[in-house]
Amino acid sequence: MSDKQATATAPAANSAPRPSFIPRLTFFQIFIRLLPAILFALYTYSKKGAFQPPLCIAFGVNCPRNPTHLSGLLERPDYYGQVLRYYGNLFTQHEDLGGSLAVFVDGQPVIDIFAGAKDLAKMQTYNNKTLQQVYSTGKVIEGIVIAQLVDQGKLDYEKKIAEYWPEFAQNGKEDVRLVDLMTHESGVPFLDDDDKANYFSWSHLADQKSFSERLARQPHLFDGKKTRAYHAFNRGWYLNEIVRRVDPKGRTIGQIVEQDLMTAYSDLELYYAKLPKESDWEERLSPMHDYPVLRILGRLILPRAIQTNKYLGHPGTLPLHSMVRKAVYNKFGTASMASKALTPRFAPMPKYFRIKEAHTIESTSFSLKTNAHSLARIASMMANGGASTHPGEEPNLLSKDAYTKATTFHSTETCEVTGEALPLSAGGWVKTRNFYGDGPLKDVEVQGWGGAGGSLMVWIEELGIGFAYVTNAFGAPETVLGDYRAKTLLDRVVYARKQELGLLPKPAEK
Ligand SMILES: *[C@@H]1O[C@H](CO)[C@@H](O)[C@H](O)[C@H]1NC(C)=O
Repeated sequence: MSDKQATATAPAANSAPRPSFIPRLTFFQIFIRLLPAILFALYTYSKKGAFQPPLCIAFGVNCPRNPTHLSGLLERPDYYGQVLRYYGNLFTQHEDLGGSLAVFVDGQPVIDIFAGAKDLAKMQTYNNKTLQQVYSTGKVIEGIVIAQLVDQGKLDYEKKIAEYWPEFAQNGKEDVRLVDLMTHESGVPFLDDDDKANYFSWSHLADQKSFSERLARQPHLFDGKKTRAYHAFNRGWYLNEIVRRVDPKGRTIGQIVEQDLMTAYSDLELYYAKLPKESDWEERLSPMHDYPVLRILGRLILPRAIQTNKYLGHPGTLPLHSMVRKAVYNKFGTASMASKALTPRFAPMPKYFRIKEAHTIESTSFSLKTNAHSLARIASMMANGGASTHPGEEPNLLSKDAYTKATTFHSTETCEVTGEALPLSAGGWVKTRNFYGDGPLKDVEVQGWGGAGGSLMVWIEELGIGFAYVTNAFGAPETVLGDYRAKTLLDRVVYARKQELGLLPKPAEK
């Protein structure tokens, strides 16, 4: 528009009396007037299962027609059948898309199921060949490898990290012990990344020598004062520096898992930087499907009573984690500790942790590719005090002594990153009798860990249970350890097990 036109039209627009029946509204006023409609739209949108093609959610077109695929094993259906029915419902209601669920009781599988599809259109079956990235659930395996090295006398939780890795003793980290790193109290919840000289990318990780120097150089965030602050992605990177210095063959955690763990137990699939075949990246690794951002907003706005209403919403849904609210209201990306520790510049959203570049570098804290069978099988040995569930045929996972050391309660501290105070054991797992709700799980001691998106790997010694849930339907952040799907499944497993043991008043269908 030229100056001439502007001066010619502006006075006319100003002088003409505005018709009074079209009020001039600010954007905010328009928003307020439209709010009921927006809320209604968000509500109807939120009510439909999240993991469907967007066109299907919005307009009911393009909806997948294939029935839910479920295959695998179910034992003692009188008890465990109700667990599987709930699991199946997650798929028909599009709360889940594809994944696996495995439950071992006293070393034997009672549920070992692969279900759903790899894609939203449900054209590719999710089967027992499919592999799934499980984010932080992989920290359980990471911790077990450390416990095995403690078992072999190569590591000691109480020793200072500098004893194994002298260069680590810099910038306030001189006194940090292995147990502090396991319990996220070593003062390195993130790597400095705020200037050009420090700028960090996946390719930096590939240069082992310079990356190792960089990890060693990172200052203790709390000047050496022990403080819990979740090491979401770099606990594994620090542990690997220690592990390759004490392993006689100089191996990393991932290499030990591949060469020792996966050969000791032939049915395990636990992969980090490489898959058995190059074509597996395409053919076996399932893509992850993110929970829609709009729906997160809906859940932030809608009253809880509607979200969990029996008819209008989903009764089991847990509130979004307080971190989400903080991230939205304090604007994402401000330099808070949580945003640095959970959404670093090199991977500002969960999807950046699953690009090929990220996968092909070994990151044991977030990039394990596996299935529920493998995880539950290991959890089942943990439930057995680390001892083999097939004695004579397979070795023990851990000696009794090492299991006891690793699972001894360490401390409950409020985490500066997540705001949660979880009771942790020396081995770096949660150990709690307050895991979920007031149902069958009440007062039952659960140990293990979970991952972003909803995966969960836990064991329950007193009931002999090893449990794992993995999914490609990256759920909304609810709790640090698993969302309502895994927790409700575990709750039902515990119900079934208690019923089986005659620990419940009278057997009745739940
Ligand atoms: C995987 O599934 C196929 C077909 O359902 C079955 O034949 C095979 O035994 C399964 N493999 C394992 C390891 O369970």
